[in-house]
Amino acid sequence: MGKQHYQITVNGETHDILAEPRELLIHTLREQLGIRGPHIGCETSHCGACTVDMNGRSVKSCTVFVAQAAGAEITTVEGLVNPDGSLGVIQEMFREHHGLQCGYCTPGMITRAHRLLQENPTPTEEEVRFGMAGNLCRCTGYQNIVKAILASADMLNGTSSSSEAVGQGKKVEAAE
Ligand code: FES
Ligand code: FES
Repeated sequence: MGKQHYQITVNGETHDILAEPRELLIHTLREQLGIRGPHIGCETSHCGACTVDMNGRSVKSCTVFVAQAAGAEITTVEGLVNPDGSLGVIQEMFREHHGLQCGYCTPGMITRAHRLLQENPTPTEEEVRFGMAGNLCRCTGYQNIVKAILASADMLNGTSSSSEAVGQGKKVEAAE
């Protein structure tokens, strides 16, 4: 099938694009729209580097055809900054709690964490690890990612930092 016109909305901006229906959303975002936050890792739905928010759900954009994204509202890590362009809460907490090293997984982690906290604003450590299990990190060992997400929850809820609480709750295995 040849190229078709589609309309997709990314971070509040609507784009008219021409693409083959089978084009993967990650390629549309990065190559057609120049939105490079979502990364390409495995392209087989395992790593989560390509995670974006689509119509209020986390999706791995390497598994979504552009035809499926037509008309959808998509949010990438770029859309999670504050209105003044400063780092959003989750981004800031990842920075503060060293939730990244090389940073390759980070856009997907933050985008997934955003949806997790929308769905469960007060997660336990175990719930964070379970909810993030589809996003892999080769560098951090996950502990600081979990800290950053729990601290984000506290910031968003207006409660005190829970970073000290990490490790005090029920012990769970690293998210893999
Ligand atoms: Fe999509 Fe790895 S690149 S899950
Ligand atoms: Fe390097 Fe996660 S910080 S892969």
